[in-house]
Amino acid sequence: MTDETTSSEIVVEPAPHAAWLPDCALAAPGRRRLAVRVPDVSEPRGGIAPPGSDNSREVVATLQGEVEHATTTHGGAVVDPDASPDLLLALSPEWSAPDGGTAPSGADDSSSEFRLARAGGRVTVTAATATALLHGWFHVVRLGEAAFAGPDADERHAPALTLRVLDHWDNVDVHPVMGQVERGYSGGSIFYAEGRVRDDLSRVTTYARLLAATGIDRVCINNVNVHAREARLLTDDLPDVARIAAALRPYGVRAHLAVSFAAPMTLGGLPTSDPLDDDVRAWWRAAADRVWATIPDFGGFVVKADSEGQPGPFAYGRDHADGANLLADAVAPHGGVVHWRAFVYDHTQDWRDRSTDRARAAYDHFAPLDGRFAENVVVQVKHGPMDFQTREPVSPVLAAMPRTRLALELQVTQEYTGQQRHACYLAPWWSENLGFRPSGEGDGGPAVRDVVAGRGPDPSAAVATARGGGIAAVANVGDDRFWTGHPLAQANLYAFGRLAWDPTLDPAAILDEWVGLTFAGPDGTVDARVREVLHAVLDDSWRTYESYTAPLGVGFMVRPGHHYGPDVDGYEYTPWGTYHFADRDGIGVDRTRATGTGFTGQYPAPWRDVYEDLATCPDELVLFFHHVPYSHVLHSGVTVVQHVYDTHFAGVERVRDTVAAWESLAGLVPDDVDARVRERLAEQLRSATEWRDQLNTYFVRKSGVPDAHGRTIY
Ligand code: GCU
Repeated sequence: MTDETTSSEIVVEPAPHAAWLPDCALAAPGRRRLAVRVPDVSEPRGGIAPPGSDNSREVVATLQGEVEHATTTHGGAVVDPDASPDLLLALSPEWSAPDGGTAPSGADDSSSEFRLARAGGRVTVTAATATALLHGWFHVVRLGEAAFAGPDADERHAPALTLRVLDHWDNVDVHPVMGQVERGYSGGSIFYAEGRVRDDLSRVTTYARLLAATGIDRVCINNVNVHAREARLLTDDLPDVARIAAALRPYGVRAHLAVSFAAPMTLGGLPTSDPLDDDVRAWWRAAADRVWATIPDFGGFVVKADSEGQPGPFAYGRDHADGANLLADAVAPHGGVVHWRAFVYDHTQDWRDRSTDRARAAYDHFAPLDGRFAENVVVQVKHGPMDFQTREPVSPVLAAMPRTRLALELQVTQEYTGQQRHACYLAPWWSENLGFRPSGEGDGGPAVRDVVAGRGPDPSAAVATARGGGIAAVANVGDDRFWTGHPLAQANLYAFGRLAWDPTLDPAAILDEWVGLTFAGPDGTVDARVREVLHAVLDDSWRTYESYTAPLGVGFMVRPGHHYGPDVDGYEYTPWGTYHFADRDGIGVDRTRATGTGFTGQYPAPWRDVYEDLATCPDELVLFFHHVPYSHVLHSGVTVVQHVYDTHFAGVERVRDTVAAWESLAGLVPDDVDARVRERLAEQLRSATEWRDQLNTYFVRKSGVPDAHGRTIY
C-alpha cells in the first residue's frame, strides 16, 4: 500500500508500524531531565569495537539520539551529567559490578551487564559497554514511570544467555517453492529484494532498534537452506553483507551468515569439501579471514548439514564433529562462533519401515559426539525431537551432551502454529521448554535454561561449556507494514527476546510489558480494557490452538508442503517420518522400549520411565509415546476419542470468544491494527472450524465411536 503525496510520480511508503517502540512508550523518561556521560574513548579499528569490548562511538551516538528524541517528543531536556539529571546513563569502561550485588542467577556475560541505581527518584544506569548501556536505556523505557517511582534500589542486570540469536530464513532470490522468506508469513525480506541486498537498509536499523529493546544482539541474515545464489553472500556479496552489518551495528546487533558445507566446491572450485582435507581447511580459513577483514565485528556461521538435502560431512564418511570443527578452526582466530544444527534425520524414509523413528535421529547422531566439539562450536538443538510442533516432548539431546555448548532452537515464525493468521502467543510453550528439568522436576537439577546458559549437569565439564550455547529462533518478520503479518504476532518476537535475556520471566508478565509499550497512549499508559482484552486473547492462545489441531502430542496432520490447515493423513504415507498410525482401533506412535522404537530410552531417569509407562505418561504427550485404543481413558477421565471431540468443539468456541473480545476494543486501538487483526481472526475462526470438522469426522469414521454429547460431526 502506498500514500500519494503529490500528484507527481513520488509515492511514499507508510512508515513501518512502531511495534513496541511507539513514541508514546518513551513518555516516562522523555518528559524528564536526561544525561549521557561518556568518557573520551579512543576509537578502535575504524569505529568498530572488537567483539566483547564494545565501546563503540556508534552505539553511543545511537544512545544520544534516543535520549534526544525522547526528550524532544515529550518535553524533557538533555542536560549536563553534573546537573542532577533524573536519569544519568553513564558509560564507564572500567566499571564492573561490585561483588555481592543482586546479579540475576546465571548472569555471566559481563560485557552486557548494566547497573541500575535509584536514589530519591533519580536513576543512574552504568555499564562498561555502549551496547549494555543501550540495553539499560531500554530497560528504563520498559519500566516507564516505575523506573523513577520505585523505592531506592541498586540492581545489576545481565542476560542469562550470552548468545541470543534470530535466524532469518530469508533468500536473496525468490525460491520457486519457498518464496523470498522460507516459512515467512510477513511479506518479503527486509534484507533482500529483486535478487540482491536492498539499497535502502534503513528498515534494518529500525529492526535492530526493536531487537535491542528486547535484548537480542545477533541476527543470522540468510536461510539455513543455502541455495546457490545465497551461498555467494560469503564471497562475492561480502560488501553487501557488510552494508547489512552496518545497518544493524548502531543498535549493537551483530550479523551472522548461514553457509553451505559444500562451499569449497561450489564457490572455491575444489574437488572436495572433506573436512579433513588440507585444501578445504585452507579455503575456509581464507574465507573467514576475508569476512572478518570486511566486517570486524562479524558474529559467525550457522550450518545446516546432512539435513533435508543440504550437503554435509557424511558424504566423506566424516561425522558432525569433524564438520563443525573445520569451520570452528577457521573462525576461531577472529573470535567467531559456529552454530551447528542438530536437525539431522532421514527425510527419505519408507513409511512402511517401522524400525526408523525420526524422533530418535538427532540424539543418535549427536549424543555420541559429546566432548568432541571445539569450544567455539554451539550445537543448536530444536526444542523437540521432531520439528517445531505445537506439542512435543523436550529433545533428549539437551540432556545428553554435558561437554558441549548447546543452544535451544525455537521457531518464532508460526510455521506449525497458525502461520501468523492465527493468534498464538508462544511464550508459554517456550517457557515450558526452558523450564523442563531433564533429571526430573523434584530434584532441583538443571533445567534446559541452565543447560543453555552453560550450567548443565556435569560440573567437571564447566570449563568447556561455561559460556553455554544460548538460544536461537527462526524469525517472523518481513517487509509487512506490521513486521509480522498478524500484528499480535509481534508479541512472539518481543517475548523471545525477553526470554533470551531472562528465561525465568513469566509469559503473562512479558505480554503485559509488550501491551504496555505497544498500546501506550500519549501519557505513556494503556487503557485497562485494552490490557484485559489482550490477555484474554493471547494468554492461553497456544493451548487454544493445540485444542483444535493435532491431538495429544501426535503432531503434523497438516497439509503437506505449506503446512497450513488440516490434512490428517497428509503425511501418513510420505518419506518424512511424521506418522500417526491411526487405524480402526487406535492411534499414536509406540516409542517405548518395551514394544516400540525405544525412543523413551534416550531420556535420563525419571523421564525414560515416566514416558514409557502409560500410567504416568502425561496426557498431552500420550500419542507421541504410545499407540493406544480410542477407548483408552486419559488421566483427565475421558477416552482418547472423546477428548478429540471435546477439545475440538471447545477450541472453536474459544476462538469465537476471542473474536468477540477483540471486537469489544473498537475505537480503543488504532484503526489499522484493528482492521488487520479482525481480518486475521476471521480466518482463524474459519480455519479452526475446518480443523474441528475434519478431525472430528476423521475420528468418528475411523473409530465408529459417536460423540457422547451428540454434537454435529459430518
Ligand atoms: C522445517 C521447515 C523447513 C526448514 C526445516 C529446518 O522442516 O519446514 O522449511 O528448512 O524445518 O529447520 O531446517
